[in-house]
Amino acid sequence: MKNNIIIKNKINKFNKEIFVSSDKSISIRSILLASQAIGVSKIYNLLESEDVLNALKSVKKLGVECIKKKKFYEIKGFGLDSFSPKKKLTIYAGNSGTFARLILGLLVNCKKEVKLIGDKSLSNRDFSRVIKPLSLFGANFKTNKNLLPVKISGTNFLRPINYYERLGSAQCKSAVMFAALKTPGITKIKAKKSRDHTEIFLNELKVPIKIKKDKFYDYIEIKGQTNFKSFTYNVPGDISSSSFFLVLTLLSNNSQLKIKNVNINKSRTGIIEILNKMNAKILTKNKKKYKGEQIADIIVKSQKNLRGINCPKTFNSSAIDEFLIIFLVAAKAKGVSSFKDLGELNNKESPRLNIAVRFLRKIGIKVVRQKNDIKIFGQPNINLSGKFVIKNFRKDHRVFMMSCVAALTFGGEWNIHDKNSVNTSFPEFLKIIKYLGVKINWKKKN
Ligand code: S3P
Repeated sequence: MKNNIIIKNKINKFNKEIFVSSDKSISIRSILLASQAIGVSKIYNLLESEDVLNALKSVKKLGVECIKKKKFYEIKGFGLDSFSPKKKLTIYAGNSGTFARLILGLLVNCKKEVKLIGDKSLSNRDFSRVIKPLSLFGANFKTNKNLLPVKISGTNFLRPINYYERLGSAQCKSAVMFAALKTPGITKIKAKKSRDHTEIFLNELKVPIKIKKDKFYDYIEIKGQTNFKSFTYNVPGDISSSSFFLVLTLLSNNSQLKIKNVNINKSRTGIIEILNKMNAKILTKNKKKYKGEQIADIIVKSQKNLRGINCPKTFNSSAIDEFLIIFLVAAKAKGVSSFKDLGELNNKESPRLNIAVRFLRKIGIKVVRQKNDIKIFGQPNINLSGKFVIKNFRKDHRVFMMSCVAALTFGGEWNIHDKNSVNTSFPEFLKIIKYLGVKINWKKKN
């Protein structure tokens, strides 16, 4: 199997425009909400990555018709009781923590037991964070140590809850909001800041939802058991996928890139704010609102004079999926960068904080770690010449893509394993790398 890539040269200068793959968070939410709407929803530009395709397959298995048309997906919901399997069944979430946690929220009223399974990486991740609040609604769970497989059986006697979400996890917040849709009465949530696509979507669908925000928390109230109508949605580009190309451009020589039609919701743009504080000059142009979300083109240029950052913890949630790639910028910035309280990174597709520290040390960057805080000592003149093999990272798509960016900008000879991991979130990744002028060698054997 050709599942490695070999990179031996830095990327040459480029000046291009690209589109990245569609937003994964919104793609998954659009499928799940369409499955609960009344009528036929049409979703354009749905991300066709493994995480999203597993969500589609599971929703189909739960009884909702999903049809791929030429330009869009058609999803035929029949309201908040759409999931009505006649017998026990098993659904497969693959690598997707988001789908796995959100679907449990929608299964709290499911009449038959549903067994949720996933791949090796997902089977290592903790589900107590959603099992606890969803049990309070009245759903029943069977699991061993809060790991997959998780079996859920719903109840006819759902009761609303008051929930305090303290991790800053949009998955937990959204699972509770989904359960609230099914529950009579008013569910109240106080949530540490995290991405707010679910709230925005529900508001667009005219579900009775109230949202208040202060500096650290969002306060949400949802009145349940209100059916909503089907919708049309056009999914924008993903800022998390864009981030690899922002950094690739920033760390290359004399290059410029425009990434078109990207979702720049404030709760996701920590990467832009952090990089600009490090002296990048990333601009957003052509801004427009779409169904409550902010969309724009992003323009980035190479920057030789990057400086270290003392990164405020308030960015931890809006850059949660981007720290791996931000650490590469810190590795090339002048001075020391410090990041704090990043324990949640170790609860992702792989233990990303541990992996990042190992990775940076491997390429000769000094890193001081104290529990969940790290300091990265930048080397503005970094120019590697050794050989690097990157493997055993639980096939984490973002570790693969970050390694490619390091290889293309820091030099050296790289053999990066598990190239297929990009299919989780960003199937177009290597195609775009080629479009920017890189010749990639595929290794014959793993
Ligand atoms: C996501 C929320 C985040 C993020 C994940 C997608 C979502 O996870 O890391 O990639 O779509 O809600 P947490 O909720 O665990 O922080």
